[in-house]
Amino acid sequence: MKTLIAKCILLLALVCSCSAADSIWQLCNNNSNISSSSQIFKNIDSLLATLVSKTPSKGFVTTTSSSYSSKDKVYGLAQCRGDVGKTDCSICIQDAAKKIREVCPNQSDARILYDFCFLRYSQENFFGKLDTSGGLIYYNVANVTETDPKTFDNELGALFDRIRSEAVLPKSRGLGKGKTKLTPFVTLNGLVQCTRDLSELDCAQCFATAVGSFMTACHNKKGCRVLYSSCYIRYEFYPFYFPLDPSRTGPSVGTIASVRLSP
Ligand SMILES: *[C@@H]1O[C@H](CO)[C@@H](O)[C@H](O)[C@H]1NC(C)=O
Ligand SMILES: *[C@@H]1O[C@H](CO)[C@@H](O)[C@H](O)[C@H]1NC(C)=O
Ligand SMILES: *[C@@H]1O[C@H](CO)[C@@H](O)[C@H](O)[C@H]1NC(C)=O
Ligand SMILES: *[C@@H]1O[C@H](CO)[C@@H](O)[C@H](O)[C@H]1NC(C)=O
Repeated sequence: MKTLIAKCILLLALVCSCSAADSIWQLCNNNSNISSSSQIFKNIDSLLATLVSKTPSKGFVTTTSSSYSSKDKVYGLAQCRGDVGKTDCSICIQDAAKKIREVCPNQSDARILYDFCFLRYSQENFFGKLDTSGGLIYYNVANVTETDPKTFDNELGALFDRIRSEAVLPKSRGLGKGKTKLTPFVTLNGLVQCTRDLSELDCAQCFATAVGSFMTACHNKKGCRVLYSSCYIRYEFYPFYFPLDPSRTGPSVGTIASVRLSP
C-alpha cells in the first residue's frame, strides 16, 4: 500500500466531541508567510467576505481577489458538503473564515476543513488541481465485531464502489452517499465528496487514494474519515449524513484516534 501510511503516527485519543462546530483539519503553509500590512493580507480579507456571502446559495464558490497586480492575487474556494442545508452551510463557512484567520494569521496559503464545509485560499491557482498531498485520517478505535473482517471488507467495498460511481456523475456535484445492512441490526453508512472544481477523473482518483486508506489505517474499524484537500470520505455505524434518520440518533461514538498522512 505505497507510502500512504503516516510518517508520524499521532495518536490523539480524543473522546469524540466531533460536532459540526469543530474544525477537524487545518493546514498553514509556512512557506507562504506574509505581513499583516501587506496588500495580500487585505485581499484575503475581502476574498473571505466573498466566500462567506456567496457559498451558501450554491454550496460551492471559487473566486479570486480583485487586484491590479498579479503578485497580490489570491485564489479562494469554499464548499459545503452536498447533503448539508443552506443554514448549516452558512454557519460553517462563517466559522471557517473566522477560524482560519486565527490559526493561519501570517500565511497566504491556508486551508481548513469541518465536517460540513471546506475553505481554502492561496496565491497559487489550485482550481481544478487534484491535491492529495498531506491529509488526515480519523478512525474509531473500536474493531468491528458484528461480522468477520472479510465480510466487512466486502460490504464496505461494495458500498463505496456504489457511492463513488454515483459521486462522479455530473448531476451529483461530487457527492455520493448510501447505506447497507451489515446485519439485521447494524447499518453501515457511507459518504464521499469531492471538491466541485475537480474533473470526473481526478475526483475518482482522489476517492481511490482515500479508499486505499481503509485497508491500512482503518482496517476493520467501526468508523473512519479520510481527509484530503480534494476529497472527503467517511463511513460510520451510525447515521451522520442528511437527511438524518430520526429514529436512529444519539450514537455512543467512543474513542477517536487520528493519523497524519505524509505529503
Ligand atoms: C507552521 O508554523 C506554526 C507555528 O510555528 C506551526 O504550529 C505549524 O505546525 C506549522 N505548519 C506546518 C504545516 O508545518
Ligand atoms: C513562517 O512563520 C512561522 C511562524 O508564524 C515560522 O514558524 C516559519 O518558520 C516561517 N517560515 C519561513 C519560511 O520563514
Ligand atoms: C504572526 O505574526 C505576528 C507579527 O509578526 C506575530 O506577533 C505572531 O506571533 C504571528 N502568529 C503566529 C501564529 O505565528
Ligand atoms: C482491534 O484489533 C486489533 C488487531 O486484532 C488489536 O490489535 C486491537 O487491540 C483491537 N482494538 C481494540 C480497541 O480492541
